[in-house]
Amino acid sequence: MDITTLKQFDLLSESASKDGLNIYMSSAYRSYSYQNTLYNNYVSWYGKEQADTFSARAGHSEHQTGLAIDVNTIDDSFADTPEAVWLAQHAHEYGFIIRYPKGKEDITGYKYEPWHIRYLGVETATAVYNSGLTLEEYLGIDSYYH
Ligand code: DAL
Ligand code: ZN
Repeated sequence: MDITTLKQFDLLSESASKDGLNIYMSSAYRSYSYQNTLYNNYVSWYGKEQADTFSARAGHSEHQTGLAIDVNTIDDSFADTPEAVWLAQHAHEYGFIIRYPKGKEDITGYKYEPWHIRYLGVETATAVYNSGLTLEEYLGIDSYYH
C-alpha cells in the first residue's frame, strides 16, 4: 500500500468520525494474482461481459497500484448512506476522488462505485473534483483494453 495514501486516508477517516461517521477501509492493495483470482471468479459466475463492468482484469486494477481504497460496504447499499454523501463531498480535501462516478459508465468502463476512492494528491484531486470530469476526461485518455 502506498504510505501517503494510507496517511491521507487516516486523516479522512478521522475527520469523518468527528462528524459522527464511520469510514473504514474494506479493500486496499491487491496483488496481480489476487486480482486475477477475483476477476476469474466473477467471469465464472457472471460471464466476461458482465464481469468487465465491475471488475478490472489482472494487471489493470487501481488496487494493484496501492493508490485505491474501497471503503465500508462494497455494494450498491453504500450509495446514499451519510458516509457515501460525506465521502463524495470531502474526499478531494484529502487527495481522493470517487473514481467511478454515477452516469459515467461509458467513459470509465465501470458501474458506479461510490465506495472506490483513488488517491491523486490534494491539488489534483481538487482540480478533478472542481472540473466535474472523470479522471479519463481530465487527463484526455481512455481506459479501454487495447
Ligand atoms: N472494481 C474495480 C474496477 C477494480 O476491480 O479495480
Ligand atoms: Zn475498488
